Amino acid sequence: MKIGFIGTGSMGRTLVEAFIRSGKLSPQDLYIHNRTRAKAELLASEYPGIHVAADNRELVRQTRCIFLCMKPGEFRRVLEEIRGCTTRDHIVVSITSPVMIQDLEEWLPAKIAKIIPSITHAIFSGNSLYIPGSRLTTDDQAWLKDLFSAISSPLEVDERHARIASDLASCSPAFFANMMEKMADAAVEETGIPRESAISLVTQMAQGLGRLLTEGGFTLHTLQQRVAVPGGITREGLELLEKEVSPIFHRLIQLTHNKYEEDIEKVQKALNNRVEKNVP
Ligand SMILES: NC(=O)c1ccc[n+]([C@@H]2O[C@H](COP(=O)([O-])OP(=O)(O)OC[C@H]3O[C@@H](n4cnc5c(N)ncnc54)[C@H](OP(=O)(O)O)[C@@H]3O)[C@@H](O)[C@H]2O)c1
Repeated sequence: MKIGFIGTGSMGRTLVEAFIRSGKLSPQDLYIHNRTRAKAELLASEYPGIHVAADNRELVRQTRCIFLCMKPGEFRRVLEEIRGCTTRDHIVVSITSPVMIQDLEEWLPAKIAKIIPSITHAIFSGNSLYIPGSRLTTDDQAWLKDLFSAISSPLEVDERHARIASDLASCSPAFFANMMEKMADAAVEETGIPRESAISLVTQMAQGLGRLLTEGGFTLHTLQQRVAVPGGITREGLELLEKEVSPIFHRLIQLTHNKYEEDIEKVQKALNNRVEKNVP
């Protein structure tokens, strides 16, 4: 099946590269288009065989499955552009959470899905969050899950939980990288250890931690128990973290959800302020 990617920014590129490097898709099967054409051309030059479509309409005409990899504020323009050439046979996948499946189904005659990816798919790991629309057949669903199984572990989530699941699966690589950086910076400031060493220590630790939790038989709880022996230094450290860190995660989740609500409102205003949005 020919597959198109509208938007080859950070995540569009990550997906294209992961699908090709996993061997699941070949460059010849892919059509890409990006508002700044040079970005798409650069990607195509790195993976010879990828087709750079002249515009989004040509991309839709040449493909059966289309990934919308733009930011929420860019959806209306793209939907206006492609709705005339999208058919009932197309599968259109949004990778962003604040654009509702119902709105996409009102704009396009296509079969819609929402699949929120994560940067972790670059190394074929992490969960992709799979939210099927109402028009997908059982075969479509199986095909999409199989596609994403090549680069991730697809997990079906309710659209109501799309934001929190995205916080945990898609935003957390950045959140945790930030916390590790802050920990290393504090180590440098408090002790004078070279920054390079501090960064290397936390990075190597994170790699081992990930493996212990996925293939080493540990859970988050058993791992803490195993390291924090009674009366030891780690136990005291954990007691401080228990008190000080929990509140920040509540604030973080409240913040992402407030921004999500604002984004939904903006997107819905943009997508719904016209009568002609319905497909003829
Ligand atoms: N980054 C992540 O880790 C991640 C994870 C999960 C989900 N997402 C979702 O993925 C979406 C994209 O995020 P991103 O980080 O990849 O953003 P990004 O780097 O800004 O990429 C968006 C791309 O869309 C292109 N674009 C905008 N309007 C277009 C149009 N009319 N036609 C063709 N291309 C167009 C932009 O082109 P220009 O080059 O002209 O700007 C840009 O390259 C967001 O909605 C985000 O929520 C991202």
